[in-house]
Amino acid sequence: MSDPKYPVKRNGEYTLYIEKLAFGGAGVARLDNYVIFVKDALPGETVRARIRKRKTAYAEARLLEIEQPSPLRQKPPCPYFEWCGGCTWQNLRYADQLRYKQDIVRESLKHIGGVEDVEVLPVLASDREFAYRNKMEFSFSDRRWLTADELGDETVRRDFALGLHVPGTFDKIIQVNHCMLQSERANRVLQIVSEFSQREGLQPYGVRSHEGFLRFLVLRESAYDGGLMVNIVTAYEQVEPLKKLADILFEQVENIAGVVNNINTRKAQIAVGEKEILLRGLPYIQEKLGPFVFQISANSFFQTNTRQAERLYDTVMTFAELQGREVVWDLYAGTGTISMFLARQAAQVIGFELAESAVADAAENARQHEVYNARFVGGDLLHRLEETEPKPDVLVTDPPRAGMHEKVVRYINEIAPHRIVYVSCNPTTLARDLAILAQKYRVDTVQPVDMFPQTYHIETVVKLSLKQEK
Ligand SMILES: C[S@@+](CC[C@H](N)C(=O)[O-])C[C@H]1O[C@@H](n2cnc3c(N)ncnc32)[C@H](O)[C@@H]1O
Repeated sequence: MSDPKYPVKRNGEYTLYIEKLAFGGAGVARLDNYVIFVKDALPGETVRARIRKRKTAYAEARLLEIEQPSPLRQKPPCPYFEWCGGCTWQNLRYADQLRYKQDIVRESLKHIGGVEDVEVLPVLASDREFAYRNKMEFSFSDRRWLTADELGDETVRRDFALGLHVPGTFDKIIQVNHCMLQSERANRVLQIVSEFSQREGLQPYGVRSHEGFLRFLVLRESAYDGGLMVNIVTAYEQVEPLKKLADILFEQVENIAGVVNNINTRKAQIAVGEKEILLRGLPYIQEKLGPFVFQISANSFFQTNTRQAERLYDTVMTFAELQGREVVWDLYAGTGTISMFLARQAAQVIGFELAESAVADAAENARQHEVYNARFVGGDLLHRLEETEPKPDVLVTDPPRAGMHEKVVRYINEIAPHRIVYVSCNPTTLARDLAILAQKYRVDTVQPVDMFPQTYHIETVVKLSLKQEK
């Protein structure tokens, strides 16, 4: 049925030309001036697509057929790419991924933020296009999602999977024996755990039945000394089979730092337990960022691409232009890693962080590294900024995807630090916040950094200077 509010029909099929890529990974087509997002389509492609969701401003469509493929399209190197939610752009060469990430940042700033007269620098590329992640989380499932090849194969077990999610689903897990985003050693661990669990008859947890034992396998590998930590998350305590597994891992894979068992008895599907049992070795790995060596336990937050995290922090430091006399505020400080970099070149750093565990980690990290000029304020920073003294000369902010609360942005304008360094993992909310900051600040430099090759994710560092000094 046609509805004058929408330029497309519900479930209607259309032939569309894909112009570019959007944040989120989908191809962007236009019907007159109405935008249609087509997942899995690439720029330069003519596709047949069916409308699955329509709104007044845009629609989302499912790709049915590629009528004219893009010259940019390449065969994805990973055999799971078609079904797995881990990567979105393996069908694009890395150089093209970077070009589109730069375009996405530029267009968001222009169209959402009204920031036009600033150059968006070329994206700082990751040295590694694959095997760049220092952490991977795999899920167990009692209902394996079968790929097209597996559907007709009766020998494939249907009641066990250890792998990754089908995009946009919480319960559909495809069996993954090899993930290109992690190292070969981590893949060896993945295979051993999968084979062992099936051989020993350990039951995977069902997200619908809430029964079963094995929930997640989380692997962490240090880019610093290669130590690999294996964390098996289970629904209840039963250490004997896991101890046996730990021994096999230590025997068959070199440089295992430790094997731990987190126990999550709650229904919430998260890989964090209420209790942790050390099965063998150490309960942490060591990772190095700049001059700092951090101990990272199973449940601590840490940047997942170590090498690029260093580049990101170096960019923050360059943009902050610290002389050693400044008071610096680090908003959304996490475990205080940026704060520690800043503290080396500032008089004083105050980090603000909501998660109590992260605040404790941050304070401990600072203590261990003998950083005495950084302190951390816990709680929602919306309610902490006003009462905190001294006010900053330079402010660094690294909010979650949702960006900053509007009141926080307006408060920053009010206290007017002479420089702001905004680190963002979402160009859309970055642009929205910059639109407000632009009332007082000039956008000097925009540097995207690629932390996540093969995905649409992009980190952006922006340097802002006060238009009129206080
Ligand atoms: C993108 S992470 C920052 C990571 C950190 N800067 C780093 O490089 O490791 C965002 C952080 O903001 C924190 N956060 C989210 N909302 C917050 C709020 N309202 N007040 C304070 N911190 C908040 C989260 O707990 C999270 O640690």
